[in-house]
Amino acid sequence: KKGQQPHKDMKDSQLEEFRVSDAGEPMTTNQGVRISEDEHSLKAGARGPTLMEDFHFREKLTHFDHERIPERVVHARGFGVHGYFQVYKPMTKYTKAKFLQDPSIKTPVFVRFSTVAGSRGSADTVRDARGFATKFYTEDGNFDLVGNNIPVFFIQDALKFPDLVHAFKPEPHNEMPQASTAHDTHWDFIANNTESAHMVMWTMSDRAIPRSYRMMEGFGVHTFRFVNDKGEAHFVKFHWKPLLGVHSLVWDEAQKIAGKDPDFHRRDLWEAIETGNYPEFEFGVQMIREDEEFNFDFDILDPTKIWPEELIPVQRIGKMTLNRNVDNVFAETEQAAFHVGNVVPGIDFSNDPLLQGRLFSYTDTQLIRLGGPNFHEIPINRPVAEVHNNQREGYHRMTINRGQTSYHKNSLGNNDPRPVSQLDGGYAHYQEKVEGRKVRARSDSFKDHYTQAKLFWNSMSDVEKQHIIKAFRFEVGKVRSKSVQQQVVDMFANVDLTLAEEIALGVGVTPPKAKAGDEASGTTMAGGAETKASPAL
Ligand code: HEM
Repeated sequence: KKGQQPHKDMKDSQLEEFRVSDAGEPMTTNQGVRISEDEHSLKAGARGPTLMEDFHFREKLTHFDHERIPERVVHARGFGVHGYFQVYKPMTKYTKAKFLQDPSIKTPVFVRFSTVAGSRGSADTVRDARGFATKFYTEDGNFDLVGNNIPVFFIQDALKFPDLVHAFKPEPHNEMPQASTAHDTHWDFIANNTESAHMVMWTMSDRAIPRSYRMMEGFGVHTFRFVNDKGEAHFVKFHWKPLLGVHSLVWDEAQKIAGKDPDFHRRDLWEAIETGNYPEFEFGVQMIREDEEFNFDFDILDPTKIWPEELIPVQRIGKMTLNRNVDNVFAETEQAAFHVGNVVPGIDFSNDPLLQGRLFSYTDTQLIRLGGPNFHEIPINRPVAEVHNNQREGYHRMTINRGQTSYHKNSLGNNDPRPVSQLDGGYAHYQEKVEGRKVRARSDSFKDHYTQAKLFWNSMSDVEKQHIIKAFRFEVGKVRSKSVQQQVVDMFANVDLTLAEEIALGVGVTPPKAKAGDEASGTTMAGGAETKASPAL
């Protein structure tokens, strides 16, 4: 309950400096001048024209005229909450990340859950992936884990992301449908970019219509690295496991709720926190040693592949508790700027080509969405760690940097922040050996688009399979192009023949001839390497 909220953490105290309460205060202009009248503009005579000199009128209207900022180009509809994270045991052997060392330390977090395709005013319960973005305000700076509730992604290379999103968003000629996978360009993209098969199996499953943000898993999707203080690395995948378990709606419920309460998921989360039912998620990691990189029949850098948990178990290493709603959705949730490139010492990237491209995109989009290069100074984005560098000026600069100089190196010595060694917490990139020709290519196993999609299908219960078939029928059934429908059926024959036949029957196109698993199905396994289980880490 409100009264049970824990004492202020460092982030909360920082935000406190910016909070304003207007209740009962004299109304003022933005210049602090008290206002005596807020219903009638200043006029030349009771029936005369409005006077330009009415500064209160001008300021109020001007501010209103500029109240909107662009919504996020994807994940526009979201809901954010505060909380904290605690590690269960020191992870020193694998990573020097400070927030993963001491179980007594509570690291403040801000989490924004979202849908992907719909606009900011769309309904919560649509069929879609869900974003699960976490900002850890660590004493070593901000670490952002910008994940989804599905462990794989539609594409393997960031170069395709604009195409994917253009195809999934409303069609440009009539801006329909608002937030749905049931349209031609969506399925045309899938049928012509078959690496999407695995993720499409997830989005057609009940995972894409979660019961609650409190009952979804989260996944970092990409392979990252943990690096310890000796400079040794492990490949790592990140997971969030909800302590309430994973639960979904059924499609009929999802559609009805979208009409009756489009805010269903944000209301559920907000109310749970207001009533003290704090959502909890355990933080999981899968780890692979650097020398095991090539032990698998998939490339561990391929974001359309999971690391099967039977081979590489998920270790639960900590817990996140979400316990505080925001004071103001625009100031906090809308202005939050997550970036997959925000890492802290002990966490590093891999060469996953989707991850590499994301490293460019987030700051780039936020420069326009949040109006210039100083959005790190917006209260929700400020680290609790101190910030010292020679970056200056730009739109909306808040910091007043003192001193004569703003360059490195300088001998005047009155204002010269200094880079520090790794021993003093300086970030040092993992020294991965890289060599090769410049090519537009990936390893052969990236061409295997169906093995894991089949695994997913085969792991489903009969009821779940029925739900998937119905989802395909509903979504593909709304496609106007018979050719696209046929291509989708032929594509999913590579996953399962019965599935493809059922879709064909449902949407009225020709059942497929090829059988899943046939040589002709286009399935190619990587290099023949034998899969070896990773020894328990
Ligand atoms: C948001 C780009 C893949 C998760 C965004 C935004 C952009 C973007 C431009 C809007 C950010 C903003 O306005 O603040 C990309 C690109 C991708 C990609 C270029 C691939 C090349 C992914 C993947 C995931 C993901 C694979 C999940 C693992 C998210 C989330 C948000 C987001 C959760 C919303 C963050 C928030 O709540 O503010 N992405 N994205 N994205 N992306 Fe991606």
